[in-house]
Amino acid sequence: MNGFKIDEVNLYEQLGLELIVKLSRCFYSKVYADPNPEFRSMFPADMEGAIRNQYEFFVQRLGGPPLYSSRKGHPALRPRHARFPITRENVERWLGYMRQAMVEVGIPDDARARLDEFFTASGSFLQNIDEHGRRIY
Ligand code: HEM
Repeated sequence: MNGFKIDEVNLYEQLGLELIVKLSRCFYSKVYADPNPEFRSMFPADMEGAIRNQYEFFVQRLGGPPLYSSRKGHPALRPRHARFPITRENVERWLGYMRQAMVEVGIPDDARARLDEFFTASGSFLQNIDEHGRRIY
């Protein structure tokens, strides 16, 4: 998915690897502490693996080296999310933790607004169960 405000600048160069890793670590510490088992149980026991999948994808999507694809191939986000129940509630929960994490690790405001647009759009794109419980993809 292109044409987002994240594509107008090189956020990988602006933020750096360390801050991107910190963001995924902070985000997943919230996900794995989530009290709702319907949400939390989607995520694998291996939290370190989930953190790595995410930050490697972010690094490449934000203009850095293709860490994710050189290890796992095309990100194919919809197929890779198809087995999880991604309801509107779960999208909002995911976005809520990501927004908190961006603030906590100190992503600068301009970058945060760009990332927020990208996460919001991709979250909606990945929702696969509609408000009537029907499968979208
Ligand atoms: C909308 C709510 C979302 C939910 C509930 C969700 C859930 C999950 C789950 C359960 C995994 C498996 C963890 C793993 O094995 O790595 C995963 C992986 C992943 N997610 Fe999401 N996700 C959401 C949104 C997003 C968004 C917005 C992005 C990108 C901007 C994203 C990118 C990824 C990537 C790159 C992986 C690793 C895929 C793999 O290598 O198998 N996800 N997600």
